Amino acid sequence: MARKPRPPAPGRSAGADLQSILRVDHAGEYGAVRIYQGQIDVLAARRAAARPLAAVRRMAEGEKEHLARFDEILPRYGVRPTLLRPLWWAAGYALGAGTALLGTEAAMACTAAVEEVIDAHYGRQLDRLEAGEVRDVIAQFREDEISHRAEALAQGAERAPFYNAVRATIAAGCRLAIALSERL
Ligand SMILES: [Fe+2]
Ligand SMILES: [Fe+2]
Repeated sequence: MARKPRPPAPGRSAGADLQSILRVDHAGEYGAVRIYQGQIDVLAARRAAARPLAAVRRMAEGEKEHLARFDEILPRYGVRPTLLRPLWWAAGYALGAGTALLGTEAAMACTAAVEEVIDAHYGRQLDRLEAGEVRDVIAQFREDEISHRAEALAQGAERAPFYNAVRATIAAGCRLAIALSERL
């Protein structure tokens, strides 16, 4: 059975497993904010339809709240952010802007693909974590990501050109980003 991480005593660092969980999740929410920012900039500039743009803005606000929560939690648990933040800053934005350039449905396909991976990722973490603050936060965020995926599907993600290829490519990229951010 997986080792059970515990919150650290005041002034102490969290155990290695909890550190890696917090680091990668913080990185992921940071990347999510950047993906949505790229999408919003392109969709707004291209005068995309109001409904999908409003949906993207709504989801972006959710990601900002997620990021703010991890911004607050990490220092309390003595966890440093990933060293790869500059990479996720650029890659997240490029992914969001790039998919939005292909159209609103491609942007939604990106969201559906990312959130599918994050749902599974958070699910695996919930299996490893014992009851407590971090587990509660992740459980709540996972519900939010599931609803983001549902929203993206409702907004036509599956009608995007080459949906399956886009989905598989983005999922592979997300898994790589997760593996890197857990370690670095
Ligand atoms: Fe999120
Ligand atoms: Fe999300």
